[in-house]
Amino acid sequence: MNILVTGGAGYIGSHTCLEMLNENYKLVVYDNLSNSSLDALKRVEKLTGKEVKFIEGDLLNVEKLEQVFQNERFDAVIHFAGLKAVGESVEKPLEYYDNNVVGTLNLLKIMQKYNVKKIVFSSSATVYGVPEKLPLTEESPRSTTNPYGTSKLVIEYILEDLAKSDPEWKIISLRYFNPVGAHKSGEIGEDPNGIPNNLLPFISQVAVGLRDKLNIFGDDYSTKDGTGIRDYIHVVDLAKGHLAALKCMTDATEKGFIPINLGTGNGYSILEMIKAFEKASGKTIPYEVVKRREGDVAECFADTTYAYKKLGWKAKKSIEEMCADAWKWQSTNPDGYRS
Ligand SMILES: NC(=O)c1ccc[n+]([C@@H]2O[C@H](COP(=O)([O-])OP(=O)(O)OC[C@H]3O[C@@H](n4cnc5c(N)ncnc54)[C@H](O)[C@@H]3O)[C@@H](O)[C@H]2O)c1
Repeated sequence: MNILVTGGAGYIGSHTCLEMLNENYKLVVYDNLSNSSLDALKRVEKLTGKEVKFIEGDLLNVEKLEQVFQNERFDAVIHFAGLKAVGESVEKPLEYYDNNVVGTLNLLKIMQKYNVKKIVFSSSATVYGVPEKLPLTEESPRSTTNPYGTSKLVIEYILEDLAKSDPEWKIISLRYFNPVGAHKSGEIGEDPNGIPNNLLPFISQVAVGLRDKLNIFGDDYSTKDGTGIRDYIHVVDLAKGHLAALKCMTDATEKGFIPINLGTGNGYSILEMIKAFEKASGKTIPYEVVKRREGDVAECFADTTYAYKKLGWKAKKSIEEMCADAWKWQSTNPDGYRS
């Protein structure tokens, strides 16, 4: 199968490319490298001994994107490309809507024109907004608290309408919870630009000495230890979820828009993650509790029943493995791909 992977040079994309090459998929990656390095794909090629066709291009460049469809016949698209920093989206909403929503519209229009009607979309647990009830099922009400989340939700609405308009479309929207960790080789991992937005890259940078301490945003939530609780999922488990989604799209007779949670179903607090990371790395993580961050929810974790039923997929890796693999990546590449 020949798959177009938008945003395939990024964190989740590169890990998914690796798993797909191991399963003998043919891949074309289309990425503007705005938040990634080509080195990630070079390392994926080294690890797998297989080639990835790479095209540097932007989803907002319609001519270039169309050329890709003129030159190749795709069986499906995995659509990772997007901007993902919540705080930045509040400051630059137009850039986020343009890149994420318009970029996706461009992609969908060209897919329709070239009759490629299977897509796996990178959605997020952020489309559940502030959870009313836990765990979150795919039927939980959707809302958002920031432009990034709204861009994901708007794309889901577009995908739903598209699926309703034409029964040939098969669309799986994977709602990721909190992806962390790295490939066990330590060759590829998360390489954030500037100050990390996510917990584990921040902890890793403190452990390796790039930052003095971790800020914990509030320890007065009504959770077991007062800190926020999230459903962390190993990025390799997440990558395998995409393979399961592709298989589901080719095997099953079912069509339409299918949202699926990708999480472990377990919630861990920030203090628990720090402890697990300290154990995995042998380093002490100094931290300071500061005031709550606006828009953060106390607790968020998935009901994963449907993912197993629909895809036969389940996350397997423990938080010990998540922390050990994140540490291996960070300690061997202290400056990410620039190391
Ligand atoms: N990492 C997370 O915590 C998380 C959680 C939920 C959902 N997601 C979603 O998953 C997807 C992948 O996330 P990631 O963590 O790998 O992010 P990432 O930034 O590492 O990867 C995204 C990739 O898309 C590329 N890109 C961005 N805009 C583009 C455009 N207009 N044209 C072409 N390429 C473009 C970037 O250069 C990058 O390589 C994103 O859509 C993100 O919103 C991520």
